[in-house]
Amino acid sequence: MKKIIAFNWKSNPVTVKAAIKLAKTVENAIPQKKYSEVVIAPPFVFLEDVGKAIKKAKLGSQDIFWKNNGPYTGEISWHQEKNLKVKYAIVGHSERRQILGETDGMINKKVLAALKSGLKVILCIGENLTIRKRGKKAVENFIKSQLQKDLKNIENCKLKIENLIIAYEPIWAIGSKHPDTPKDAVEMINFIKKVVSGKYKVESVKTLYGGSVNGKNIKNFLKYKEIGGFLVGGASLKPKEIKNIIQNTK
Ligand code: PGA
Repeated sequence: MKKIIAFNWKSNPVTVKAAIKLAKTVENAIPQKKYSEVVIAPPFVFLEDVGKAIKKAKLGSQDIFWKNNGPYTGEISWHQEKNLKVKYAIVGHSERRQILGETDGMINKKVLAALKSGLKVILCIGENLTIRKRGKKAVENFIKSQLQKDLKNIENCKLKIENLIIAYEPIWAIGSKHPDTPKDAVEMINFIKKVVSGKYKVESVKTLYGGSVNGKNIKNFLKYKEIGGFLVGGASLKPKEIKNIIQNTK
């Protein structure tokens, strides 16, 4: 199965010119044949220009709003994104949960809206350091609870399982230069697959790992076939890392 590499640019870069340049770097790093699915999630303001600059890569958004349109100041709806040829929506990133106070209830609405509209969802989940320090059982309980709340009622969406992607991103590993160990990440990924398939009677849900992935350490994760790909932040802004990540992920 094709791996997914999703580049989350967060609030970078600053100009449209720089965004187009970065998008072309990604595009040029993708081989003509047999490449992974590469997704670029730029800030909203660059969606249109980045969309025009790419062919092999797919366009992703860093968030969606669940309403079609209306009086929702500052929000960008799934419908507006679809019109810009967005194919993937990242939902529930820990930075939105922690910095902007996004709740599981809001995230659930976003997941449902995205799935109903035919967008592919990359739902981010993961524990903080305090939970991690309490041990594996505590992490599993937390992850299970996030999945139950964030995926509530998805069985009513005529779910196409390939449209649901989970990204396991332990918060303490994000932007820290200290990724999870591949072994621990895979244990959690297997746990996520078990919870989702048990509850929603689906086969295996594609599950990515995210948190300080770079062009070098990605090789250690790739030894595990259970890992369906990667959500990459910091390294997705560096041309050399972009090339190594894409070339190492087959
Ligand atoms: P990072 O970010 O690769 O910089 O750790 C990952 C993410 O936030 O999705």
